[in-house]
Amino acid sequence: MSFLQNLNWRYATKKYDAAAKLSQDKVETILEAIRMAPTSSGLQPFEVLDVRNPETRQKLQAAAFGQSQVTDASHFLVFAAWDTYTPERIKKVFDTIAAERGPLSDDTKAYRDGLMKNYPARDAHVNFEQAARQAYIALGFALAAAAELKVDSTPMEGFDPKAFDEILGLDKRGLKTVVIMALGQRDAANDWLANLKKVRLPKAALIQEVK
Ligand SMILES: Cc1cc2nc3c(=O)[nH]c(=O)nc-3n(C[C@H](O)[C@H](O)[C@H](O)COP(=O)(O)O)c2cc1C
Repeated sequence: MSFLQNLNWRYATKKYDAAAKLSQDKVETILEAIRMAPTSSGLQPFEVLDVRNPETRQKLQAAAFGQSQVTDASHFLVFAAWDTYTPERIKKVFDTIAAERGPLSDDTKAYRDGLMKNYPARDAHVNFEQAARQAYIALGFALAAAAELKVDSTPMEGFDPKAFDEILGLDKRGLKTVVIMALGQRDAANDWLANLKKVRLPKAALIQEVK
């Protein structure tokens, strides 16, 4: 199947087969797609939690309006963005670049110093919102990767972020939940959405050529 056929195959799965477990290599590929996602200035200002503990998943389900995907899906990911940018967080990214590529050029140092001066000075909420947008890019990569692997997935915003942060102890780590994702195998017989036609706006309503 082509990339576009796979995107058409995927849908926001409502009901997972709780007995079906994904192979670790498929999960690793999806996690690697997340790691490879581009981010503004390459800061990768988020973490992804692969929540395996069943009791924790039950608590999270209660904080996600009881959505069954949280507990039934083979795997469950929580995308948590930095609550703000700090000089230390930014420096660490550039230290990693230097470790991989060798000493930073003067231009790169000046760019880093500009980020370290300007970003932390902004309102923390502005910084968090920007970090959250980067996490969504990674979510998109994960959705596309899952479709390519014929892994079912659900991107989800229907949850209480504060409750998630508390259950997962994210506040203490300077992180906030922004979006969550279930991964597994559809229970087609019990999923009302499984066989419905995919509906999207026509191209003309979404994409305008500017001449
Ligand atoms: C950011 C985001 C949040 C969503 N939140 C939920 C959710 O909490 N629960 C759910 O079942 N579906 C959720 N969806 C699924 C959307 O309703 C679905 O992707 C959209 O209707 C398009 O349908 P499709 O993904 O099946 O093609 C969400 C999708 C996105 C992209």
